[in-house]
Amino acid sequence: MNILVIGTGGREHALCYKLAQSASVNKLYCTEGNAGIEKIAELVPLQPLDLEGLANFAESNQIDITVVGPEAPLCMGISDVFKKRGLTIFGPDKISAQLEGSKDFAKAFMKKYCIPTANWDTAYSFEQAAALVENYSFPVVIKADGLCAGKGVFICESKEAALGTLDSIFIKKIFGDEGKKVILEEFLQGIEASQLCVVSKNNIFPLETARDYKKIGENDTGLNTGGVGCISPNPAVTNEVQKKISEILQKISAGLTAEKMNYTGILFIGFMIQEKDIRVLEFNVRFGDPETQVLMLRLKSDLGQILRKAIDGNLTQNDLEWSNKKAMAIVCTSKGYPEKYQTGFPISGLDSLPDSIIVFHSGTKKIQEKIITSGGRVLCISCIDSDFNLCRKTLLENIKKINFTGMKYRKDIGII
Ligand code: AMP
Ligand code: GLY
Repeated sequence: MNILVIGTGGREHALCYKLAQSASVNKLYCTEGNAGIEKIAELVPLQPLDLEGLANFAESNQIDITVVGPEAPLCMGISDVFKKRGLTIFGPDKISAQLEGSKDFAKAFMKKYCIPTANWDTAYSFEQAAALVENYSFPVVIKADGLCAGKGVFICESKEAALGTLDSIFIKKIFGDEGKKVILEEFLQGIEASQLCVVSKNNIFPLETARDYKKIGENDTGLNTGGVGCISPNPAVTNEVQKKISEILQKISAGLTAEKMNYTGILFIGFMIQEKDIRVLEFNVRFGDPETQVLMLRLKSDLGQILRKAIDGNLTQNDLEWSNKKAMAIVCTSKGYPEKYQTGFPISGLDSLPDSIIVFHSGTKKIQEKIITSGGRVLCISCIDSDFNLCRKTLLENIKKINFTGMKYRKDIGII
């Protein structure tokens, strides 16, 4: 098969890494890519939102499957565009992608199909939202309804902070139309778990679990990021939790069918686990980053075959074979991330790492044979071993060999 991967980050590098190992994959392309991806896939200079350009490329290069990394093209309807032109794509259509593209849509779906989630209200104006805030204790969670590049969720510790956030969204319109509606939500405590699933015609096949570390600082302090560390499996997912997750997955699958969606692609469910209380925090309609990096290290099966079978509707849970080992990823970030940061710094030390370390490139570029930083998340240093302590030891020993100006990383991944 010829495969086109859309996207440029660590997640796409991990997908390409696994697809490049697949006996079923002949030619592998990736749009834009980065300095890591270019070693294993042919880079295509097309933007993820150039839907017709991507379809033209897929058509003229006999692409058998296009795999979509980021959410924005899915929410814009890339699957609908491809399908209309008779092209095969792995990712849900525009209507189903609303599960990520609109928090209000996702919440209404959860309510209709009795999927446990945090209590919430939807507000359409500053005045309405400000009145609703009175009903919540603090912290309260405020979320802009639409896609905000991962920046639309605010945990507000006081009424003043909540009103300030509402002012930014409704009055200053920092997210434009994506902030026309706002979700006010009860704050949940607990441990988060990422459950990615392959969905084939509304049938859900869970992958192994993962835990994403979202805070920039050690001991889970500081600002929320896209994810700066990850482990798989997630230790909070006990057998009992797994059973409850399975029940929720069945409800989601039934809901997709009842809504007459025809979902094929990835559904990534963010759960909050507090002892026996398990609730859905969010849906994403794509692979996670850095969840994909750890999952691809543990996946034993041929990813190309999994995608093919999911699209054809003959995937079974047995097609997903996993290593029993633990996987860990630590992300090296640019100084300042997730706020303003500088790029363009040369990266050294990548050639001095042992084979046991897999480096997924997130924000890197190759310029005149030099690899330089080009994003907030720069490198995702990963490995697999018999336990998390060994993984962390290996990663921390080797990460020291890598350097770029302002490089930062967390040393407590898998401890807390
Ligand atoms: P979301 O995009 O809805 O998953 O939110 C991003 C992150 O914000 C989540 O992964 C959590 O870390 C945090 N978050 C979202 N909703 C809540 C909530 N109701 N209670 C506590 N934390 C939350
Ligand atoms: N790591 C969380 C995400 O990909 O949304």
